[in-house]
Amino acid sequence: MSQAITVQPGQVIERILTLELVRVTERAAVASARLRGRGNEKAADQAAVDAMRRELNKLPIDGTVVIGEGERDEAPMLFIGERVGNKNGAKVDIAVDPLEGTTLCAKDMPGSIAVMAMAEAGTLLAAPDVYMHKIAIGPGYSQGVVDLDASPEENLHALAKAKGVKVNELNALVLDRPRHAELIAAIRKTGAGVRLISDGDVAGVIFTTMPERTGIDIYMGIGAAPEGVLAAGALRCIGGQMQGRLILDSDEKRSRALQMGVTDPNRKYDMTDLARGDVIVAATGVTDGGLLKGVHFGKGVIETETVVYRSATGTVRRIHAEHRELSKFHLD
Ligand code: FBP
Repeated sequence: MSQAITVQPGQVIERILTLELVRVTERAAVASARLRGRGNEKAADQAAVDAMRRELNKLPIDGTVVIGEGERDEAPMLFIGERVGNKNGAKVDIAVDPLEGTTLCAKDMPGSIAVMAMAEAGTLLAAPDVYMHKIAIGPGYSQGVVDLDASPEENLHALAKAKGVKVNELNALVLDRPRHAELIAAIRKTGAGVRLISDGDVAGVIFTTMPERTGIDIYMGIGAAPEGVLAAGALRCIGGQMQGRLILDSDEKRSRALQMGVTDPNRKYDMTDLARGDVIVAATGVTDGGLLKGVHFGKGVIETETVVYRSATGTVRRIHAEHRELSKFHLD
């Protein structure tokens, strides 16, 4: 006799949904990968959005998009507040970035991914699409070893001490932007290394959780706030620390944030303020990258690589899938 799947106390999201999320990001990744290197960021993003939305609406969930493609008037699909799923299931928050690293995909450069998170309703920060100051490190350190309000020098020295290495053995990951010139100089002055990435700081934050593989100990700098929430969701599952602060440097941004429930524009968010409930995060590679292999179109077979994280157990699954001609992937 088959046993019914039961939801454990405190576990709102059924674990069976873990695999459903993989299907969603796989479809988005394959759809956008067909447009790799075509120089058309918009088209690649749209393909990922369409595929992700189609798959999401098949899921047995009553979902609300809290991190999406933008506000309803500027994003017809996966807009913030859109209801997704077939409504026969748990109430959940949905955060999506159907194509994280649109430029990377359009230029067929490493590191673009399709990524999403599903969490207990009301537990993901509904972040406006503004910039966020972020700092993140992987697991194994005492709480508060680094802090968003400390200087880069202080953070790197504290981290080196906690890791038991010299500061010049550390490596920081930073988005390659003119706004980071001072930060980069300050990091280099300590003797630590800086790896610059042109885009894709969700993966950049996740890199800190596996320094032996990636060589990255700490993420620092300013990236987009929605990506910050997705990265915090992943860190919640793997372990690590992250802080973020929205950059609300105009009345327009402050009022947009207020409409989304941000009453303190200077608030420093901890990882659990960004993503505090039961959460699952899935990401599929679009182009090859340090986190995931990209989609491979073979003869009659499409291959994908996905990583899926689940906070209830801290399980990390890497799923290499082969989608054969019978699968609908070949019809997209
Ligand atoms: P898109 O996929 O929306 O282009 O975002 C890519 C990205 O690099 C994010 O990973 C990062 O948080 C953000 O852009 C940084 O913003 P900006 O390019 O404006 O510096």
